[in-house]
Amino acid sequence: MAADLTSPQLPARRILIGVAGSIASVTVPQSILWLRHELGVEVRVVMTRQAATMVTPRAIAVASGAPVALDDTTDHNDPAVPHMHLTRWADLMLVLPASANLLAKAAHGIADDLLTTCIVAAPCPVVFVPGMNEVMWRKPAIQRNVATLEADGYGVVAPVEGLAVADGRPTVGAMPEIDAIVEWVTRFLNERRDADPLAEADALADRESAIQEITR
Ligand SMILES: Cc1cc2nc3c(=O)[nH]c(=O)nc-3n(C[C@H](O)[C@H](O)[C@H](O)COP(=O)(O)O)c2cc1C
Repeated sequence: MAADLTSPQLPARRILIGVAGSIASVTVPQSILWLRHELGVEVRVVMTRQAATMVTPRAIAVASGAPVALDDTTDHNDPAVPHMHLTRWADLMLVLPASANLLAKAAHGIADDLLTTCIVAAPCPVVFVPGMNEVMWRKPAIQRNVATLEADGYGVVAPVEGLAVADGRPTVGAMPEIDAIVEWVTRFLNERRDADPLAEADALADRESAIQEITR
């Protein structure tokens, strides 16, 4: 996947990726490498417990070049508040992949682990890339949750026809390739900025102080 230099540049340089327990999470290290080395963006990753059973945090840490944030490794003697540090550092949060469970929790504001707490705490735009098979994707409950998320201002990148990891056959349950996801997100962020330029400027100023803290 080579970067298409004719397409507009992604207006995000620091991406917090949230990995949930969809089997498509096995593709995430490759996507992270592409984001870092083709687009030159910085990446930090937070994973759910279930995601960490599907793709190793070590693979994600090596691909992202940074330690992975996990519920289980929270140091009880650390004064940092991880969901605040991570989300104020980021100028985009990308949930890649988002499981059915994760979409349901996010649609209802549930924050019972580090990833879902980051979603609720994020001052930056949040985009979900669902990873599930076609049967799950078409369930009314899933579609209701997606509609709620979109109405709340979140981005949701719909699955496409392709080889879904869970099915092992072509179906409308595959995540788009990472370059197509980036194109979708670029449009989404540009439309948001055009709709409310002042809010975006405030969020940027807030992030600058957080970046100084996290990189100290
Ligand atoms: C082998 C395996 C594969 C799974 N694949 C998916 C999947 O592709 N999409 C999905 O939404 N859930 C999938 N699940 C179910 C989720 O892992 C489960 O709902 C879990 O509670 C999600 O937790 P999380 O959202 O906190 O990561 C899978 C479960 C297993 C055991």
